[in-house]
Amino acid sequence: MNNEYPVKKNQIYPLEVVDLAFGGQGVAKIEDYVVFVRRALPGDNVNVKIVKRKKSYAEGRIESFNKRSEQRIDPPCRFFESCGGCTWQNLSYENQLLYKTKIVSDSVSRISGLKDTVIKPILASEQAFFYRNKMEFSFAEKKWLTLEELEDKSISKDFALGLHVPGTFDKIIHLDKCLLQSDEASAILNFVSGYAQENNLKPYGLRSHQGLMRFLVIRQSHYNKEIMVNIVTSAKHEKLQVLADELKARFKNISSIVNNINSRKAQIAVGEEEILQAGKTWIEDKIGPFVFNISANSFFQTNTAQAETLYNTVIKYAELKPNETVWDLYSGTGTISLYLAQQAAKVTGFEITQSSVENAFENAKKYKIDNVDFIAGDVIDNMDAMADKVDLVVTDPPRAGMHEKVVESILRAEPKKIVYVSCNPTTMARDLKLLEKKYVIDVVQPVDMFPQTYHIECVTRLSLR
Ligand SMILES: C[S@@+](CC[C@H](N)C(=O)[O-])C[C@H]1O[C@@H](n2cnc3c(N)ncnc32)[C@H](O)[C@@H]1O
Repeated sequence: MNNEYPVKKNQIYPLEVVDLAFGGQGVAKIEDYVVFVRRALPGDNVNVKIVKRKKSYAEGRIESFNKRSEQRIDPPCRFFESCGGCTWQNLSYENQLLYKTKIVSDSVSRISGLKDTVIKPILASEQAFFYRNKMEFSFAEKKWLTLEELEDKSISKDFALGLHVPGTFDKIIHLDKCLLQSDEASAILNFVSGYAQENNLKPYGLRSHQGLMRFLVIRQSHYNKEIMVNIVTSAKHEKLQVLADELKARFKNISSIVNNINSRKAQIAVGEEEILQAGKTWIEDKIGPFVFNISANSFFQTNTAQAETLYNTVIKYAELKPNETVWDLYSGTGTISLYLAQQAAKVTGFEITQSSVENAFENAKKYKIDNVDFIAGDVIDNMDAMADKVDLVVTDPPRAGMHEKVVESILRAEPKKIVYVSCNPTTMARDLKLLEKKYVIDVVQPVDMFPQTYHIECVTRLSLR
């Protein structure tokens, strides 16, 4: 053994997995030193090869099993072992829920130091599969092969359309079905994949920066089943219109096909130009009483059915009175704003994506809700310009959590209450620690928006001291 570290890189150690971490890995311990083990579950006893070693932790992968955990179940998806889309299909949904609640509780006490915070048991999603209304698939010029495919010499290796291999940015596993989306969306995935290969529409290479096809984003409304197909390419191409026409003719639920052009090197599905190829530029989906317009580049909760549970939790914790004012930070298409506007004097949403702000205004207009306003731009630049005092701040930042300056602005504004909606318990815990200067953390309610994955959503209620 090394003096400083209890493990050495590339060595194999027999380890007992005792817990699960945010990020999905199993947790094993050598005294206090943590080894994160990919694809391992509590109760596994495994021989682990160390692939990364740091001062306070190491990462390893399973070389072989001494004993398999009794919690293991057979994952229904045949791509599970190599695909980064789902991490916990080998764990029953019931157990996923228990570990998610525990991860939130551990994150809050470890990162924010708040030991007595009330963490409620997570609210389960009605659907554990086929629940996503949006999937973003990547094209790649090299296919990552599953063990099965490695043996099949007839398989073409220079085209993939699918999801990332866990922890990689350039390795894509080719999929013909994804159990998180509808079968109809999987049929569209297969059709686009076949068409691109037959017509020599080459994937864009992340190293070569050559090639056309970058992403296929499929959105399907939970409410009326209409579908938007967004093909993201590096440039315009005449064949894309032919593809769109064929898609439209074949799949009756498609009501929108757009081509977003992203000619920049950054591998993102948001284009600098959007070309409408069929139908309209948005689809509709419904949460609670509202039918929302959603464009290709606008944020919308991906588990529509469970979004209602999420927003009802926000409403409950908001405890709004009719004379109260609200800031809805990171407001997306204005979904939470519209919900809250029914009970408040005035709601102001802050959102950086222009198309989301446009959708938010359209959505407000559709329901003749005139006590809402939306401010486009970075939330950092706009909050301090709001002269009026505010009673409630709802904040729903992306995974990175809030910028410290945003937290400072909230602390300066001193709303009586804050409802913090988070999709990352670790950054939420960091922000709660800062807010704790002036706020009591009343309660944290985890809500499962993402079954089969390690992702966790939480709603936290804070009150001014
Ligand atoms: C997790 S989503 C929440 C959306 C909305 N509350 C909902 O429930 O649909 C986060 C939103 O923050 C927006 N966003 C990200 N960074 C931002 C920033 N710096 N300023 C304002 N909005 C930002 C994103 O475009 C996205 O719409």
